[in-house]
Parts: sequence; C-alpha cells; structure tokens
Amino acid sequence: MKLGVNIDHVAVLREARRVNDPDILQALFTACENGADQITIHLREDRRHIQDVDVTNIIAHSKLPVNLECSINPDILALATSYRPNRATLVPEKREEVTTEGGLDLFKFTKEVSHAIELLNAHSIEVSLFVDPTVEAMQISKELGAQMVELHTGTFANLYAMLYGNLSHSNHSIKELELPRKLLEDRFLQSIEDIKNAASHAKSLGLEVAAGHGLNYQNVHHMMSIPEIVELNIGQSIVARSIFSGLADAIKEMKRLTSR
Ligand code: PXP
Repeated sequence: MKLGVNIDHVAVLREARRVNDPDILQALFTACENGADQITIHLREDRRHIQDVDVTNIIAHSKLPVNLECSINPDILALATSYRPNRATLVPEKREEVTTEGGLDLFKFTKEVSHAIELLNAHSIEVSLFVDPTVEAMQISKELGAQMVELHTGTFANLYAMLYGNLSHSNHSIKELELPRKLLEDRFLQSIEDIKNAASHAKSLGLEVAAGHGLNYQNVHHMMSIPEIVELNIGQSIVARSIFSGLADAIKEMKRLTSR
C-alpha cells in the first residue's frame, strides 16, 4: 500500500502564528526520509494552511511525487497547471467547512470536472477525483476521463469514531449520535461494504483506487483488507501523533500499519 502523507496540518499550526515554525519543508524532508511514498497538500481557496509559495517549494524540493488537492475553481486550476504536480486530486470545497466533508458531486459539476480533467491532462498532470464510495460515482469518474479515484472514507471514519470513541466533544454536527448502537454497527459495516464495492467497481473500469479522510492508527486496518485500494492519503492522525512521538516515528508507525 502506498502512503500519501498529507502535511497540511503542519501549515495549520504555522498559520496559527504566521511565523515559519513549524517549517513545512522540514516536514517534507522528514516525510521523505521516513516511509512516505507521496506528499499530499491542499491549496485551499481561502489559503487557510498551505500557501502558494509552499506549493512551489514543496514541488521543487520533494524527492517523492506530489499530489496537489485542488477545487474546480478556474483560478486554482490555472495555478495547478503552472505548478505541475505529479497528480491533481479534485476535491469539493466550501469556505465555511472545517475539512472536506464529502466527495465531489460529479452529477452537479459534470461539465466543470470534465473541463478540469482535460486541462490538467493536457499539462501532463494525472487526475484523481475525490468521490463518495458509490458505484455511480465510479462509473461517471471513468466516463469523465479520470485516471484515478480517491474514495472518501469520512462516513466510515465518523461511524468508527462514534462506535469506538475518539469523537471530539465539540463535534455536535453528527446526528447519528442519537441512534441505537446496533443501528450504528449496521451502518458501520455497510460503510465498509460501500467502500469495497466502489473499489472493486473502479478497478474493473481500469481506474486506480486510493482512499482517505479520517483514517487513523486504530481504523486503518479495515482498509488493508480491500485489495483494490493501492494508496491511502492520511494527514490529521499522523500530525496529531507527531506532537507526542515526533513526525518521523508517527510516519514510520503508519507505514508499518499500512504495509502489505
Ligand atoms: N484525502 C483528501 C482528498 C483530503 O481532502 C484529505 C483532507 O485534507 C485527506 C485525504 C486527509 O484526511 P485526514 O487529514 O483526515 O487524514
């Protein structure tokens, strides 16, 4: 399994003070030396963490492929084509959200996504689509010409957190918390089935399959039993653990858990 280490959260901490500490390039070098297979960053429209100069520096200095997450906003796409990452992952973006809350709606934004794929491919940038794990989303991803899909594991991760307990006390947005445990367990198992079905459908269509969002040291083993998934992109849990163990050890441990 390839491990894409998302280092956005290093920049979140830096932006809290607007000083160059922690240094994002030090995070890049540490990731490169300790088991990451890819560096993932998200240039958000509101620039809340990664800045334009970070993208340029990371792409210039990375020994590993760089996966740039970006929205379908034309200004962001123009920047992506000029930065030339190895891959662009198209994600939905809402200014007010805490994090990317769901997959890209390919039925609503068919034209925009199709145009974005054409543009990026014309600049030799491979395109992955961050989508909810449904068979329909795999089908349309293929029809639109994507090379890869990244399955959004947020529903799975939220249900895992509700059942096995690492939900923050400030998270009042999850209405399922009121549901009986048996129902939550059924939904949790269904969320894994959905990921499995989507992954196998995507592979049968010739798409490469990644997964990400909310994956951590406790829940990641569920992804390891899905052979079609060849890459995981993980950020929050690795950077959170690095506060206690250091970034190098946090990445090494995630690499150990995700090695087949
Ligand atoms: N993959 C994509 C497309 C994402 O948008 C994110 C969140 O930025 C991740 C993976 C990583 O998610 P997390 O930080 O929850 O590990």
